[in-house]
Amino acid sequence: MTLFDVYPLNNITITKALGSNVWDENGVQYLDMYGGHAVISIGHTHPHWVKRIEEQLEKIAFYSNSIIIPIQAQLAEKLGKVSGKEDYQLFLCNSGAEANENALKLASFHNGKKKVIAFSKSFHGRTSLAVAATDNPSIVAPVNETDNIIFLPFNDEAALSECFEKHGSEISSVIIEGIQGVGGIVLANTSFLQLIRTLCDKYNSVYIADSVQCGYGRSGQFFAHDYAGVNADIYSMAKGMGNGFPIGGILIAPHIKAKYGLLGTTFGGNHLACSAALAVLEVIEQDGLINHAKELGAYITEELKAIEGIKNVRGRGLMIGFDVPEELKDLKKTLLTDFKVFTGEAKPNVIRLLPSLALTKAHADEFLAALKGAIELLKTK
Ligand SMILES: Cc1ncc(COP(=O)(O)O)c(C=O)c1O
Repeated sequence: MTLFDVYPLNNITITKALGSNVWDENGVQYLDMYGGHAVISIGHTHPHWVKRIEEQLEKIAFYSNSIIIPIQAQLAEKLGKVSGKEDYQLFLCNSGAEANENALKLASFHNGKKKVIAFSKSFHGRTSLAVAATDNPSIVAPVNETDNIIFLPFNDEAALSECFEKHGSEISSVIIEGIQGVGGIVLANTSFLQLIRTLCDKYNSVYIADSVQCGYGRSGQFFAHDYAGVNADIYSMAKGMGNGFPIGGILIAPHIKAKYGLLGTTFGGNHLACSAALAVLEVIEQDGLINHAKELGAYITEELKAIEGIKNVRGRGLMIGFDVPEELKDLKKTLLTDFKVFTGEAKPNVIRLLPSLALTKAHADEFLAALKGAIELLKTK
């Protein structure tokens, strides 16, 4: 049997990882400024995370959601404390797409309405409704097509107000990333998020904050949407939540009520996933990683702005993007092959940095030096 060939792969096999470094099968060391698509939050193979998973594995790894799983309640309590959303409710699942799928569905159950507002360049996942709300027709299969999604231009307040005036009685939810990731690191304006809150209140619609990539402390606040100073009704989370152990979830505001059978999953909230997620929050809290992400991110951003050749440096905390001109279009590849640094990209010609929140200043400086070296190299080619 062969693998279904859907991923364009780098010709690298990673066999070992620690903190912000990974090593290939020949022992070559790489600096990880991408965290495997923003997943590595507290650092690869963090000892506390490994210990918690190992200890759990020896007791029980899995049982379904038909018995009491006390570690779920421990996780909910810790998540409430670290995120500051203590009065919210937690539903656990396994991935970002699933979190958004549940959020959109729950919103519709809650207010009985059908239409969803999503925005240009959004990415919300690949399951049926999440992908329909994603602004990329090439990944939407005919079976996923629906006229329930209304796409509006990102950060366009007039278009949003006009849409609610016309269709408010039909709008079930508005789904928005606090910082668009796949779309190229684009920040939602504070006034735009505040307007979403106001309009959702006025028209009994649900504000869904997709925090799958920009959440979990990455932006320097627990949720990037928090910078707007208003609460969403539902926050979706995944990626950094398990530091590589698959887990996702939604935080649900208290006015949205649960009912037996409303949502459900076989694997979501299993013992092992919860132990990984709890370890992540313990380390984030203990090591002050959210503030660290804010400070180190500000440092990297300032340093990047001083580098000649790259443009439009943007982001918050350790979610940073910048544009590369045409003559540097091979920058990501050069960083990887010649300087052994993993970064991410967004099309066209955007470099994305999504390192572990525990990245050290020394690693940040190592990256900045590599970046300068790669730009020099490309300029002489
Ligand atoms: C903002 C956002 N939402 C949802 C998803 C989907 O997450 P997953 O790949 O875990 O299904 C992603 C993944 O990149 C994402 O960036």
